Amino acid sequence: MRKMLLGGATALVMGLGSVSAVAQDAPFGMDSEIEYAKLLWDLMKADRLVGEGAIHAVPYAGTEPHGMMLETFYSNATLNGHIGRLVVKRNYGPEGVMADEVLMDPAGHLAAVTVMFQREDGYDADNQNWFWAKYLPDGTLDKAPNGMQLAGRVAKGADTGCIACHSAADGEDYLFTSNGMK
Ligand code: HEC
Repeated sequence: MRKMLLGGATALVMGLGSVSAVAQDAPFGMDSEIEYAKLLWDLMKADRLVGEGAIHAVPYAGTEPHGMMLETFYSNATLNGHIGRLVVKRNYGPEGVMADEVLMDPAGHLAAVTVMFQREDGYDADNQNWFWAKYLPDGTLDKAPNGMQLAGRVAKGADTGCIACHSAADGEDYLFTSNGMK
């Protein structure tokens, strides 16, 4: 009996070891990040930042990769007891679309919702603890070409992707549109 228990405990420890090794290899797209992204979507919905009944601003002309018409909202959100800065960007298309067309039918023009949420210390100390996510209009996550869902530290260590591009933003806060704002 004692031997069996010991055997079980060893297997469990080995199992946990390999899970954490996988988690470290993948900076984004794991189940825990997908789950977190779902909680964040629900929170944004409750705050009317996404979904039906969302508040609107006047869309402004954007650039690639975010789309031709954009709305950006800055706020704070509390998730799992942590309060962080939340930046929500709605990406509208197609190319050539005008602001009034977007306002007349926002849902019909929404291509994606890209989000940055500043998480607790230690989440990603290299990159100011930002959590990145790209949602489709229905709240599901968009995917990278290799099929990984875009939620988490996207794509930490790579030459392209959210972190690589945003690390070039002025002000060293990973934000392009907030220069002068804190
Ligand atoms: C090739 C560069 C590039 C990549 C890749 C990129 N972004 Fe951006 N992002 C920008 C630029 C430029 C802006 C400012 C656009 C504007 O005028 O509103 C921006 C704005 C934003 C904003 C509004 C806050 C800010 O910085 O002004 C959010 C949120 C955002 N991006 C999220 C993401 C997420 C999430 C990803 C990855 C899925 C991503 N971005 C990938 C260039 C990039």
